[in-house]
Amino acid sequence: MKEGKWLVLEDIDKASGEVLATLWPLVESLALEKHIGGHAQLRVHGRGLVRAKEGFALFATRSVMSSIDGHVPTLTFLGAHKWYPINITAPTDIELRDIIHTRFAKLPPAVIPPILGVWSKLQRLANSSAAARHLGTRDLMKWCTRIESLKVPSMMDLDELSNTSFVGVIPNSSIREEVFIEGHDILFGAMSDRPAAQALMTSMASTLATALGFGDEKLKFLLADRVPEWEVVKGSDGKVRTVHVGRVSLPAVVTKGPPQTKSRRQFALHKPSLQLLARLATCVALNEPILLTGETGTGKTTTVSHLTSLLSRPLLSLNLSQQTESSDLLGSFKPVDARIPAAELQRRFQEMFAASFSREKNLKFEEAVRTAVSTGKWKRAVALWKECVKRARDRIQRNQEG
Ligand SMILES: Nc1ncnc2c1ncn2[C@@H]1O[C@H](COP(=O)(O)OP(=O)(O)OP(=O)(O)O)[C@@H](O)[C@H]1O
Ligand SMILES: [Mg+2]
Repeated sequence: MKEGKWLVLEDIDKASGEVLATLWPLVESLALEKHIGGHAQLRVHGRGLVRAKEGFALFATRSVMSSIDGHVPTLTFLGAHKWYPINITAPTDIELRDIIHTRFAKLPPAVIPPILGVWSKLQRLANSSAAARHLGTRDLMKWCTRIESLKVPSMMDLDELSNTSFVGVIPNSSIREEVFIEGHDILFGAMSDRPAAQALMTSMASTLATALGFGDEKLKFLLADRVPEWEVVKGSDGKVRTVHVGRVSLPAVVTKGPPQTKSRRQFALHKPSLQLLARLATCVALNEPILLTGETGTGKTTTVSHLTSLLSRPLLSLNLSQQTESSDLLGSFKPVDARIPAAELQRRFQEMFAASFSREKNLKFEEAVRTAVSTGKWKRAVALWKECVKRARDRIQRNQEG
């Protein structure tokens, strides 16, 4: 505020009442009542009135579910009426095409129309059912990131208008299979076991398969029987260099010392664990955070730790519970008694002082430092320590010159 920066408060409607109440006066000081030349300001406990520098601007965002009639839920958070609202509508197909075209420079433009074609069908299916999670533009962007990383060959010489199907623009069927797998993993692969969710997944899978030019046989293969590739490449020293899984290669950290073999032999590479490893590896390669959901004992922790041990990456496991506090994750400041570090500093000071200066000639000085520390006069103690450092530096310099 004081530096005139712009501030964006994301998901303001999720903030607690306390936070909103703190913001209220600030928002009010900026609102229409503000006189020309007036500054935004906020009274901060213990710091008085903080005034914003010229140019300070305040934004807040909130996310809402899309609704078919375009109705936006009313603002209900504390102080909402003080903000100037702007509703942003979901991008249309043409706008989406522009966004994808701009963001994914390596994606051949001809691939975008078939992606958007099947996307709108899949989105409609998912968002009209209570069994699925809501699909939004962010999911589409994720899918496009994955398709871009498949390195689809560019078909620039094709007449774009006559080829709006996937088969037309991606003749290579194994690339189309990857497009399917990525779409499956991102858009509908994580549904629950409930019948409604499974039925929805089946219809989304067959919609996507049809768009990609695959029949029932192929769909069954892709969903159930496909086993991802798996290869562990070792160097001449027997240490793992790379793990190829599915379509990605993850580099291993090459450590010193003998190759470790301990935990590797215990892991069963059956089909489900290979499929899981392939999905994990793709996410790791693209830096996506991963949430594993499954009954206890289904190998969530084991699979992750197997992959880290192969790649010799450090693994940190934290068990979260109701008692976990944010400071367990981030670390925090603890109130400490200043006497404890001060006593340690004073002990080292005395050692070094005795080694550098004559104690007899400096009895008074030493006494003054001791008193400052023992009576807790920290400013004075620090000033005396610093003074001594300065004198020592001067003396070293004189010795060097002489
Ligand atoms: N592919 C596998 N190869 C070898 N052992 C496995 C495999 N999958 C699971 N296990 C064994 O199953 C047991 C349970 O696995 P794990 O602890 O990973 O489950 P989890 O999904 O993390 O469960 P929780 O939800 O309780 O944390 C472990 O003892 C593990 O050794
Ligand atoms: Mg576990």
